[in-house]
Amino acid sequence: MVTTLDNALLDDILQQVRPLIGKGKVADYIPALAEVAADRLAIAVCTVDGEMFQAGDATERFSIQSISKVLSLTLALTRYQEHEIWQRVGKEPSGLPFNSLLQLEMEQGKPRNPFINPGALVVCDMLQTRLSAPKQRMLEVVRQLTGEDDLAYDSRVARSEFEHSDRNAAIAYLMKSFGNFENDVLTVLQTYFHYCALRMSCVELARSFAYLANHGRDLSGREVISPLQARQINALMMTCGMYDGAGEFAYRVGLPGKSGVGGGIVAIVPDELSIAVWSPELDASGNSLAGTAALELLSQRISRSIF
Ligand code: DON
Repeated sequence: MVTTLDNALLDDILQQVRPLIGKGKVADYIPALAEVAADRLAIAVCTVDGEMFQAGDATERFSIQSISKVLSLTLALTRYQEHEIWQRVGKEPSGLPFNSLLQLEMEQGKPRNPFINPGALVVCDMLQTRLSAPKQRMLEVVRQLTGEDDLAYDSRVARSEFEHSDRNAAIAYLMKSFGNFENDVLTVLQTYFHYCALRMSCVELARSFAYLANHGRDLSGREVISPLQARQINALMMTCGMYDGAGEFAYRVGLPGKSGVGGGIVAIVPDELSIAVWSPELDASGNSLAGTAALELLSQRISRSIF
């Protein structure tokens, strides 16, 4: 039976997945992230016409972490020719954790895709080269996508990441040793950590990502990227957005998605909906446990999948 999409449906879905809280693990390798209340649970769904449905803590802001990797790629697509991007980063799923160094060494410093840490660091390096103020520019992008002028970085989270940046720094220096990094590593790390430390709510994420459901146009009708580029980003999210959990997510949810270790996940129903969920406890791949379950239920209840 296909159910109508409304707030009551979303409430019901959250109620069903709430028992999963306590079964995952809040990310603690970034100490400031570990302070988040583990019982937060939220969902928001935005239609391409701008109608919003929501349930739970959907207006509470959290650290979007790797969800920002989609926004940085989007920004890079507006500043570079596509071939310039794809000669420095691949389009294949990695099958390995998001911060793995193993493959990067074996593949001469070219990251598998833009959504693992090495790939996002290369994209940030490219933005550093072409933008005079990359941190400020990203704030302008998300403020424009949401219409919220007070969106900001969580400087405590950014600082905490910088203080525990050994692995990301190692990744960046390894790429520099292969000639795939142009700028000062510490400067680019700062930009990258700030992007990860963007604070947004599920409602704001669902609004922001409507352009991927709407052929590249945001809710005001402005073309952010071309329809083809939106299709291509959705394809990359489908294959690479959930790291070594991408196959499982495709099987259970069947939608392009992108997770962050803050516990957020954004998913797209092309032509129709952008969805954001949040529950801070993660599974072994670093993807939100209850968030994935909520998306699985939603995709079944409203009968949506790209397959
Ligand atoms: O660089 C990191 O490790 C974090 N700032 C982002 C990782 C992340 O969100 C992976 N996603 N599930």
